[in-house]
Amino acid sequence: MTDVKQLRLGILGSGKGSNMVAIADAVAAGTVPAVIAVVLSDVAEAGILERARERGIRAEFIAPGKFRTKLDEAAEMAYIAALQAAQVEVVVLAGFMRILKGEFLRAFANRVINIHPSLLPSFPGLEAWRQALDYGVKVTGCTVHFVDQGIDTGPIIVQQTVPVLDDDTPVSLHERIQQAERVAYPAAIAALARGAVTVRGRRTTLGQGR
Ligand code: GRF
Repeated sequence: MTDVKQLRLGILGSGKGSNMVAIADAVAAGTVPAVIAVVLSDVAEAGILERARERGIRAEFIAPGKFRTKLDEAAEMAYIAALQAAQVEVVVLAGFMRILKGEFLRAFANRVINIHPSLLPSFPGLEAWRQALDYGVKVTGCTVHFVDQGIDTGPIIVQQTVPVLDDDTPVSLHERIQQAERVAYPAAIAALARGAVTVRGRRTTLGQGR
């Protein structure tokens, strides 16, 4: 029997952690050949930390510093150090509400991924489900993509569509998108862990891998 290498993941989130739970469940079920090495949050009381600890996953709050939408320099260094100490190979953003740039992206070049609740490039930024509803689209969804210096602009790994129903509210549409996220994120991470993702410019292909 050949040993499949386990990809070491570091998950960053600020919220309730439903994506982290879906990834942890897929790891436990053996469908994603990875291990969650550490979960980090900029919010001390975030659900994602509690839900990670319940599952025996190391989880730490790291203070974000003085800014509202990004990490300050010292915090950025602390996040990088914690991820490197845990020997993280891929950084998974799961509702992390701060923009990561410069030093962080250099430390994990082409190894940071994010999930966004729309079919990018439509509706980047905040509350993408509300933007979709206000615009009146009939189909939206979620996108797993690599993180680059822009906001929600990196090469796309996986997208999944979700219908917009006539009687949708922002809450009902967001919930339907989150159900899709819980499938799309583990699928994208499984492809990465199997070495199946090739990136050429903006285009990625998901081959067979190992
Ligand atoms: C998800 O809806 C994701 O699209 C967005 O942040 C939300 C995180 O939710 N980036 P959760 O903390 O994983 O439940």
